[in-house]
Amino acid sequence: VADLSAAAQAPPHGRRPPVVGGLGGLGNAVALMRDPAAFFVDAYRRHGPVFRMRALGRGGIVLAGPEAAIFLNSRVGRDSLTSRPFWQGMVEEFGATEVVNGAEGERHHRLRGLMRDGFSRQAMRGRYADLVAGTDAALDRRCTVGGWTSVLELAQQIAAEQIGRLMIGSAPVAHVEDIRVAMLVVLNVLVARVRPRSQLRSRRYLEARRGVDALIDDIVRDFRARETGGCPLDSATAAVLRANRDTPELMPDSNVTLTLLGPFIAGIDSMANSLAACIYGILKHPEALRRVRDEADALFADDGIDEGGIRQAPAINGAMLEGMRLWPNAVAQVRTTTRDFAFAGYRIPAGERVYFGTTVPHYMAEFFPEPYRFDVDRYARPRAEHLQKGAYSPFGRGPHSCLGQGMAEGLMALGIARIFHRYDLALPSPDYVLKMRATPSPGPAPSFVASVRGERHPARRVTERMAAEAAA
Ligand code: HEM
Repeated sequence: VADLSAAAQAPPHGRRPPVVGGLGGLGNAVALMRDPAAFFVDAYRRHGPVFRMRALGRGGIVLAGPEAAIFLNSRVGRDSLTSRPFWQGMVEEFGATEVVNGAEGERHHRLRGLMRDGFSRQAMRGRYADLVAGTDAALDRRCTVGGWTSVLELAQQIAAEQIGRLMIGSAPVAHVEDIRVAMLVVLNVLVARVRPRSQLRSRRYLEARRGVDALIDDIVRDFRARETGGCPLDSATAAVLRANRDTPELMPDSNVTLTLLGPFIAGIDSMANSLAACIYGILKHPEALRRVRDEADALFADDGIDEGGIRQAPAINGAMLEGMRLWPNAVAQVRTTTRDFAFAGYRIPAGERVYFGTTVPHYMAEFFPEPYRFDVDRYARPRAEHLQKGAYSPFGRGPHSCLGQGMAEGLMALGIARIFHRYDLALPSPDYVLKMRATPSPGPAPSFVASVRGERHPARRVTERMAAEAAA
């Protein structure tokens, strides 16, 4: 049997990856802060799929392009990489021993299995009335006819309502800001390591952490009351708490808080950034706006909406996928190599921090003709440009790819449909160009506002059909 191990394939004296030119001590920090997606694309075009970047004394090897996306899914990729060190600081800060993002092997597999159903698109089944009501609540809080709305904040509120209702039965309105602040500090200080550790002792952070702990206490109390009362909640939250009770070796007490926060940490900002980008793309393109509105109005014509209806709305789904292609929320995935391996003729040594630029192909005309054009028809067959190998990775690649992808896609499509059915929004001007920010994760800048020109369809009371759906 041929020895196909990664080490056996690695060239013994590999070339050194080219270093991307930068600005003295700052290295590539400025370009990365300005537009990380553009930085990776530009470096890939100049240097190929392997290069080294530097950012303020840090940095690492970058593997980019379709080659990198395909590698993450490969056997060698799975066997040679770990994401544990990247998340370890956050795990320790919460007094935990492990979280699904940093787990590997058999335990990782079991942890994903625990939450898979609760994070899937099927988890929305029977919950559409509630999700529409939550989306309406956020819309009505943030949209006043004749005024302006911050699109990012609107999207954050919609995401918090939707995820909160699915995970714990209600939006954690009082604690959304606590979660945001706590995670911002933790991610900046302990994961991205771009802020000083002193932030972990700041009053703002400590107060937010107390709010987060109070939220988790409420969730656990509510779970126990529901179980005792005979009406258990069917959600990923309940699955985690049951595992804590029934298989504590898999979900010990120490890991409950961080795991329960998972969907809020992983879901709210990523969905909000992506949704805000989709809203921009739709508002910027009048023909897409017209089609999205037509589909949305048809979906809500009889006040009912279901899975089948949403799936058959090509412009809405195309706009959702196109928003994530052009303005991806996760530009790169970070791993540490656990052993030497070969990649594109280079030897990548063990113990290196490696960035996987999996969204580079999003901007390659080889996969997406006229790549910078917002074209909602790319995704329908026969074009289906996103299905080409290694082409489209807004949800990452490999064993740690997004567990909430199905749910996120369903929720965003529902959100887009409801926003454009309910309100007549417009950009500040037709030539407005979206500004992006790079931290804490790439997404539309908070300065992105839309004018609320009118209410197209007021929220009607949930019809009997939808109420019956919710009751069932
Ligand atoms: C548009 C919205 C979203 C985007 C763009 C997104 C993107 C991603 C990406 C790129 C990863 C891989 C990170 C890595 O490999 O290091 C990831 C992982 C993950 N996501 Fe999402 N995500 C979204 C929404 C959600 C939602 C709504 C949930 C749950 C309710 C969720 C749960 C997770 C989990 C649990 C992981 C870790 C999986 C593992 O390590 O095995 N995500 N997500």
